[in-house]
Amino acid sequence: MIITQSVPTIQLTRGVPADESYPLELLQDCAQSALSGPHALAAMRYGDGFGFLPLRQWLAERYQVTPSEIMLANGSLQLVEFVALGLLVPGDRVLVESPTYDRTLTLLRRYGLVPVPVPLLADGLDLAALDTLARETQPKMLYVIPDFQNPAGTVMSLEKRQALLLLAEQHNLLLLEDAPYRPLRYRGEPLPSLRELAQAAGQGERVFYMSSYTKQISPGVRLGYAVGPAAALAKVARVANDTYISGAFVGQAVVHEFCQRGLLEPQLARLRTLYAPRLDAMLTALDTHLPGTLYSRPDGGFFVSIRLPASVGVAELLPKAAAAGLQLTDGRGFFVNGQEGDQFLRLPFCALTEAEIASGVARLAAVLRG
Ligand SMILES: Cc1ncc(COP(=O)(O)O)c(C=O)c1O
Repeated sequence: MIITQSVPTIQLTRGVPADESYPLELLQDCAQSALSGPHALAAMRYGDGFGFLPLRQWLAERYQVTPSEIMLANGSLQLVEFVALGLLVPGDRVLVESPTYDRTLTLLRRYGLVPVPVPLLADGLDLAALDTLARETQPKMLYVIPDFQNPAGTVMSLEKRQALLLLAEQHNLLLLEDAPYRPLRYRGEPLPSLRELAQAAGQGERVFYMSSYTKQISPGVRLGYAVGPAAALAKVARVANDTYISGAFVGQAVVHEFCQRGLLEPQLARLRTLYAPRLDAMLTALDTHLPGTLYSRPDGGFFVSIRLPASVGVAELLPKAAAAGLQLTDGRGFFVNGQEGDQFLRLPFCALTEAEIASGVARLAAVLRG
């Protein structure tokens, strides 16, 4: 049965946080303090391309590096852009997971870089394929999302993280580790980041680690950060300075106040409590209505993904789903060779209630049954 009218449309599309996750009152209070406290004037002035120093200092302590190894920008996506401009030249090849975050693909292409897709398996990149492709294409960099990948929801296994670092050394690859979902683990134990493993192996220079307050506080603070080697980061900060002189320091100062008051950890705990039942609702609904289609069974993040039956392409599915009150994202945008994504569907679950998730997946199953 296909539901056609009088039901509100369910958006299984964008990977955005839930409105009820935003710590509005705490941020109001932090803004009051940030704009009257000792850093208020620094927040009003221009600064350098690295970002608001007190927050860089706070992050430096957290990541056990110096502030010269921390850079802030208006969202982590902008850091991808600045890295592309500061460290790469048009024509350079960049390995990416296939599928990968669509906006990164757009940015790489905008700057004349050539994304080279490496198949993504349920436990992370296909490393044999990566080895071959690296030999064939001589890439400068790998863009990788090891934790709760967008769009697939996969987590790279520890063995693959270790093996990837060896391959990165062999092929002299810079690793751009994008980790916005890393703190959002709802069960199980975290794996070390590529950055942590590289540091332990004396290879810290090889990894540019990025994260963002978008998923931890809100997208509107527009604040991402990179942890990386100081010399390379200085080139990236130069691009930032040439672009906008300095970032949006008022927001950076408010987030600094939030962090230094010790509010980030409780906020993350709150997010885990809010989102864990939503992940469970998604997994249960898929097991019930679409058994055998899950691509990965994540323990955190924002997304699961499924493989559509071979007989159904996303191009024909989308309008039928829309008619049944379900908005879906075209999976082809996540693939360098778009057509490879014709059977791929990303299903974000954080911004929907458990009831919406259950009914969204039931609608999807009904449409797939025809
Ligand atoms: C993997 C990944 N990187 C970067 C971003 C963008 O983050 P920001 O809002 O910090 O630019 C997103 C947002 O969905 C993402 O999923």
